[in-house]
Amino acid sequence: MTNDQMFPASAMPDRDWWHTLWPDPDRVVRALRIEQGMTVVDLGCGDGYFTAAIARQVGGGRVIGLDLDPVMLEQAQGVCEEMSNCSWLLGDAMTLSRLLAAPADYVLIANTFHGVPDKTSLAREIAAALKPQGRFAIVNW
Ligand SMILES: C[S@@+](CC[C@H](N)C(=O)[O-])C[C@H]1O[C@@H](n2cnc3c(N)ncnc32)[C@H](O)[C@@H]1O
Repeated sequence: MTNDQMFPASAMPDRDWWHTLWPDPDRVVRALRIEQGMTVVDLGCGDGYFTAAIARQVGGGRVIGLDLDPVMLEQAQGVCEEMSNCSWLLGDAMTLSRLLAAPADYVLIANTFHGVPDKTSLAREIAAALKPQGRFAIVNW
């Protein structure tokens, strides 16, 4: 992990606290209109708490979990190991469009956008990584 690329105040919180704040991640994902068959990027996926819910929701689609921290990605892979529709990218969200092999239907950034120093640049980067009718959602506690 390169510290100067890490968004401030974006460390993954304690799992118990996350369960209290977000007791039903599947409901959150449905409310965000993430749908069957979509290719979804979980940007700053952390330990995979929302990635797993997205994988359940997209079914035959795909979720790509991206994080700067290899330890987080390893944990996320563990959480999602039973699922065959997940793939993983290690890298900086600010370079998303160059990391993806093809444009996505949906980018979700959960509990991370607050720490992004240049929010406009990240939003532009996400727009460049989406299909023309693609969707971008920000979730924060
Ligand atoms: C507070 S956690 C949220 C994780 C997950 N989205 C959730 O809500 O459960 C923020 C995550 O963003 C990651 N992160 C921070 N800066 C990043 C960057 N520049 N590019 C990609 N991921 C980053 C951190 O490593 C951490 O895993």
